[in-house]
Amino acid sequence: MKRDFLSVSDFSKEEVIEIIRYGIELKRNKFKDRTISGKSIGLIFMKQSTRTRLSFEVGVYQMGGQPIYISGSSTQMSRGEDIKDTARVMSRYLDGIVIRTFSHKEVQDLARYSSIPVINALTDYLHPCQVMADLMTMYERFGTLKGKKVTYIGDGNNMANTWLIACGLMGIDISIATPEGYEPNGKAVLEAVELAKKSGAKIELTIDPLEAARSADVLYTDVWVSMGQEGDKDKKKVFEGYSINEKVLSEAKDRCIVMHCLPAHKGEEITEDIFERYSDIIFDQAENRLHIQKAIMSFLFRNL
Ligand code: CP
Ligand code: NVA
Repeated sequence: MKRDFLSVSDFSKEEVIEIIRYGIELKRNKFKDRTISGKSIGLIFMKQSTRTRLSFEVGVYQMGGQPIYISGSSTQMSRGEDIKDTARVMSRYLDGIVIRTFSHKEVQDLARYSSIPVINALTDYLHPCQVMADLMTMYERFGTLKGKKVTYIGDGNNMANTWLIACGLMGIDISIATPEGYEPNGKAVLEAVELAKKSGAKIELTIDPLEAARSADVLYTDVWVSMGQEGDKDKKKVFEGYSINEKVLSEAKDRCIVMHCLPAHKGEEITEDIFERYSDIIFDQAENRLHIQKAIMSFLFRNL
């Protein structure tokens, strides 16, 4: 049966580790996996992208497949053709769909009505490909995910939601500091709490960035204004203080790493100095998008 990848929790904890290890293997041997050789993968983008588009296009090519970039605005989807019909048409031509859009429900519906695997390349709710690349980067740096604490400071957005669910699944402690009113999505919190009952992850939500950063192994942040929210002019004022700065860094463990999914607004969610100091890790995260997405595609298409 086909499987989709809409959330990190679509995989088990063991599958996530298996995919991370395979991503590390593919990093060393980029043409090793030919699982999607001869297959056509549609890449639908309703929002802008640098990393996701490029890493999927290159990744599909390296695996012997054909990537087809589909700008959302050029399709009948943007003129209201319903998702159920789009899914059924695309399933007749393509072997897989990667989609970046606004509504998470739209991606769920696309997966439901498609007979081919669907991969979530970011919605307003989740960005699972990014967090898989981030987990791979942590695994490379620390050799394990066990016993680690991730601190996320900033907007309770798609990245924060995805981190909550991923940490709940993997048994990683997580502390999230956001201003009041900008907490992560309640559904993601509930799912994370449920997953944490099994994995033992500690989950903390706070409005205090210093408290959140205490003893962190990873300090993580993302833009204050996500794609689609550009009209919210007052948002940035509320977020002053919710940055990775020297004070926050001093609360974390001595050997902590600083991560960012990019694009970054230096001087807002992270200081330029700290961004540059940890740029090796930050650009490893970007590179690892390519390797982990290939490992994810290999996993989803292997048994079809
Ligand atoms: N991090 C990330 O998804 O980057 P893009 O928006 O450039 O794809
Ligand atoms: N939260 C950001 C992530 C970009 C990769 C956004 O949705 O725009």
